Amino acid sequence: MNIPIKIAGIGFQVPETVITNDDLTKIIETSDEWIKTRTGIERRHVLSGNETAVQMGIEAGKKAVEKSGIAPEDIDYIIAAASLGTHIYPSTACEIQAALGADKAACFDITAACSGLIYGMGIARAFIKSGMAKNILIVATDAVSRCLDWTDRTTCVLFGDGAGAMMLTVSDDDQDDILSVELKADGKLGHFIQMPTPGKNCPLVEPNEVPDMFVKMDGKEVYKYVVTKLPNYIEECVEKSGLKLNEIDYLIPHQANMRIIEALEKRLDFDPSHVISNIQEYANTSAASIPIAMTEAIQSGKIKLPCSAILTGFGAGMTVGSAVVKLREGIA
Ligand SMILES: CC(C)(COP(=O)(O)OP(=O)(O)OC[C@H]1O[C@@H](n2cnc3c(N)ncnc32)[C@H](O)[C@@H]1OP(=O)(O)O)[C@@H](O)C(=O)NCCC(=O)NCCS
Repeated sequence: MNIPIKIAGIGFQVPETVITNDDLTKIIETSDEWIKTRTGIERRHVLSGNETAVQMGIEAGKKAVEKSGIAPEDIDYIIAAASLGTHIYPSTACEIQAALGADKAACFDITAACSGLIYGMGIARAFIKSGMAKNILIVATDAVSRCLDWTDRTTCVLFGDGAGAMMLTVSDDDQDDILSVELKADGKLGHFIQMPTPGKNCPLVEPNEVPDMFVKMDGKEVYKYVVTKLPNYIEECVEKSGLKLNEIDYLIPHQANMRIIEALEKRLDFDPSHVISNIQEYANTSAASIPIAMTEAIQSGKIKLPCSAILTGFGAGMTVGSAVVKLREGIA
């Protein structure tokens, strides 16, 4: 039996504190012009004081759940795509469960970096289609600003903080909103983007070197990898969806670099007005970037519902994920 899935609600949350490119010139040698022309980024929102990725995830999750009309106590699973919650354990998903009162939900986190939302969708889709679950909340939330080396201008200008969420359920009609999901990974390229975990050996044994817990990235290699591999992976996903590329209304890509987005737009022959980008405002918010871009574009009217869309992300691992979806009225 093929159980159709409904994308029932989405939402996002970003911190209020904004850092502009000009602000960054006070702490590193850079310029608004360099950052804007190389990346498209103008500003980023960052956590301040005791704000956390978990709090943002709770707010984004609440919005997606409210839009879906599903009661928190009916959620079967919460999957958090979060590399930088407040703790390794309890998981971010468990902390979100407690705040939402989703007492029945089983909870776990996944680490697929910026591809996290799509990996979460792949898992949730399989759980729902197998009959194992009916209602699944995916929350993508990250506090990358807390793990950047703010003296390293090659990485610190690129990221911001944010959270996005998606509520999935069994369709009450025959429409399946997730037509295909395609996930890839290439662990041999793990050194392209890394963030080590600190940890000291037992004092009774030889001491180890404790690495800084900072994001390190070979931007050029990431760029080359994404522009050569991602379009083919997207085409594979589209083929499995049963739709043709020219039948899909919108491209909603991970917001890492405007030049990458434009390269995808050209290669896939998308009308620029149907390619969603808000990188200028939020920079790269990791797994949250796709749901933030999607929700904001629906709320502003840039995306007209109902429609079809390709969601596509890439990130540390290297991981890559794409999904062809249908978006219904009233989800955001
Ligand atoms: C990071 C990125 C913007 C760099 O752009 P680039 O055109 O490759 O720039 P380069 O690394 O060649 O650097 C060019 C010069 O600018 C300098 N530079 C680097 N960061 C700078 C900054 N923030 N401000 C000013 N100058 C900077 C470099 O030191 C270098 O100077 P040099 O020529 O004197 O050595 C680009 O490679 C990129 O976006 N890659 C993809 C990263 C990505 O998507 N990551 C997210 C994965 S989820």
